[in-house]
Amino acid sequence: MSEFPVVRMRRLRRTPALRALVRETSLAASDFIYPLFVTAASNQRHEITSMPGIAQLSVDGVLEREVASAAELGIRAVLLFGIPASKDPTGTQSWADGAPVQRAVALIKKSVPDLVVMTDVCLCEYTDHGHCGIIKDGAVDNDATLDVLAKVVTSHAAAGADVVAPSGMMDGMVAAIRRALDGAGFPRTAILSYAVKYASAFYGPFREAAESPPAFGDRKSHQMDPANVREALREAALDVAEGADALMVKPGLPYLDVLRAVRERFDLPLASYNVSGEYAMVKAAARNGWVDERAVVLEVLRAFRRAGADLILTYHAKEAAAWLRETPGDA
Ligand code: PBG
Repeated sequence: MSEFPVVRMRRLRRTPALRALVRETSLAASDFIYPLFVTAASNQRHEITSMPGIAQLSVDGVLEREVASAAELGIRAVLLFGIPASKDPTGTQSWADGAPVQRAVALIKKSVPDLVVMTDVCLCEYTDHGHCGIIKDGAVDNDATLDVLAKVVTSHAAAGADVVAPSGMMDGMVAAIRRALDGAGFPRTAILSYAVKYASAFYGPFREAAESPPAFGDRKSHQMDPANVREALREAALDVAEGADALMVKPGLPYLDVLRAVRERFDLPLASYNVSGEYAMVKAAARNGWVDERAVVLEVLRAFRRAGADLILTYHAKEAAAWLRETPGDA
């Protein structure tokens, strides 16, 4: 076996060109999915305090400008979250024609037809209690919730969504959604399942952005225990069997081991969600001058690719795409 001084690892690290030649993973704007929050307001961009640079957008020229600038930077997909004008116990605005997500899908498909439009499918932004489903006897009723999710995905597909992304962690949700889409004449609409989603404190800023904190209790009866990884493989296997087209692990950075485990077991396209709390931490440190923002963001995004993600959902999408355009491959 060769070793020092015959082997010198530094030989291939000597110049930028050599490093680029032996780089094992790539990072590009086409890997990103950019999450957007859409509202019922008009002509309004409402910044989210805990997520600097991210805003709630009205579905008009404000949204059109945002997606045009993302597409111009090479981003090929967006994920829509809706903040409805009103909430009620069963989240009826989640499947209403003319609600913000349904209008946003149609508008984006008209103004940037090539952009892949994905929709988040969950009831927490739409229920007045902020839970991810229908409440019966003080708990989220799984099967009653599936019936509502079927209406939600049908309305998103009818508006023109390319991909629906169920995030509620209900048992059987992928099968129920596939059945609903096929039954309603949308066999081409794909499902990106939030297959492995943990009950995480890193969603804090998102709940400000989406106005969706639970009014009582928490989400631990349906989201996963952060201590578990074998369970993640069971969750993913069920969603594959139910017909998911792609899988997601969420959150991102604290669960890279889970991402790797899912990557090794399954061949479906795999996404990692770099969630709001991860974004807020980087932004806060950068604003204080405690880290080099550009370098940290690109290092984080590179880590998802190295751990096995094909796709990265990230609020950094636009700034990272701009940085990668300046210096492609340099991260
Ligand atoms: C549920 C949903 C959540 C996120 C994405 N979809 C919140 C939750 O489960 O409480 C979190 C995303 C983030 O923190 O960036 N609709």
